[in-house]
Amino acid sequence: MIDKTLDNELIKKIIDIKQALGPELIILTHHYQRSSIVDLGDFKGDSFGLSKTAAEDGDARYIVFCGVHFMAESAAILAKSHQTVQIPDMEAGCWMADMADHSLVEYAWQQVSEIIGEKAITPLVYMNSDAKIKAFCGRNSGAVCTSSNAPDAFKWAFSRREKIFFFPDRYLGINTANKLSIPPDLVIVWRPGKPLGGNTESRIRKSRVIVWDGYCLVHTRFTVDHIRGMRNTHPDAAIVVHPECTPEVIAAADADGSTKFIVNYVKNAAPGSTIAIGTEINLIERLAEQYPDKTVLPLYRSLCPNMYKITPEKLLLTLTRIGEYNRISIETDIKKDARLALDRMLRLTEA
Ligand code: 13P
Ligand code: SF4
Repeated sequence: MIDKTLDNELIKKIIDIKQALGPELIILTHHYQRSSIVDLGDFKGDSFGLSKTAAEDGDARYIVFCGVHFMAESAAILAKSHQTVQIPDMEAGCWMADMADHSLVEYAWQQVSEIIGEKAITPLVYMNSDAKIKAFCGRNSGAVCTSSNAPDAFKWAFSRREKIFFFPDRYLGINTANKLSIPPDLVIVWRPGKPLGGNTESRIRKSRVIVWDGYCLVHTRFTVDHIRGMRNTHPDAAIVVHPECTPEVIAAADADGSTKFIVNYVKNAAPGSTIAIGTEINLIERLAEQYPDKTVLPLYRSLCPNMYKITPEKLLLTLTRIGEYNRISIETDIKKDARLALDRMLRLTEA
């Protein structure tokens, strides 16, 4: 369904370019994109699903990624040599990804390795990170994960080595450790500005999981008070939140899981049910529209301004200079090592 408030000329131009390029072009759209963008895309999905789509589609020469920069970069790492990846706005970054600078990550790794030896720990990096950190993980026998496969990635890492260093989302790290029943005193936070990340040598030795001190400003806006308020006004509502929320919010909710989990939760809910969701507002509003037989409510309105930077106007500009404008390019060595870490994630979910 195309947004009627949009300039028809603009939409027509986009559709004409799509038709002219046919299967040579795919437009990937993340669930958090505004509806006008999702409606113009070929595939809608979460960061994992879209990266898989990019990896599997050999026909398309041009991949246009409507999402944030780390997602387009991941698609470019997985793309085949004849494919180009473009993003309609290079400034569409991710605050959380920016909280882990690769040189600080490598310095932290060096300090931890000196204490426990690097054969005792696996680096795991959330998809929400730049290519250099993914490459660092690839070089050091680590893997990438997303919110949909973080527990599997943790199990995989623990089957190989005793400890995990997880970047950059402390909450996804802590929530995943909680899911796997790792005692909370064995999970420590690495604060990059402090000596030994604010830890002692003995705490580092004793730990099972070290989490980088990063977080998502969109998902940490949800509070236990929002949940209490929702339970008062809608006592029958099931409350579902994303694992980038704080552990307190996760504990107070009825269910938590990745973007894909939330989409399926609403899809599978009984007609007439009420679901209150703690994640990005564009996805929630679209789910509400898509399932009019259910009441889908936001726990609180929280928008990702980075995702919102992608507009139909910028998409058109990208399409008019296909293969050139805002093209993602990654140094060959970084790409090769980052691919190792992404391939480990893809294999892990196939197993
Ligand atoms: P997904 O991995 O579920 O697509 O989420 C990405 C993200 O940025 C969540 O804030
Ligand atoms: Fe990054 Fe948070 Fe936006 Fe996701 S919602 S892209 S983690 S800032």
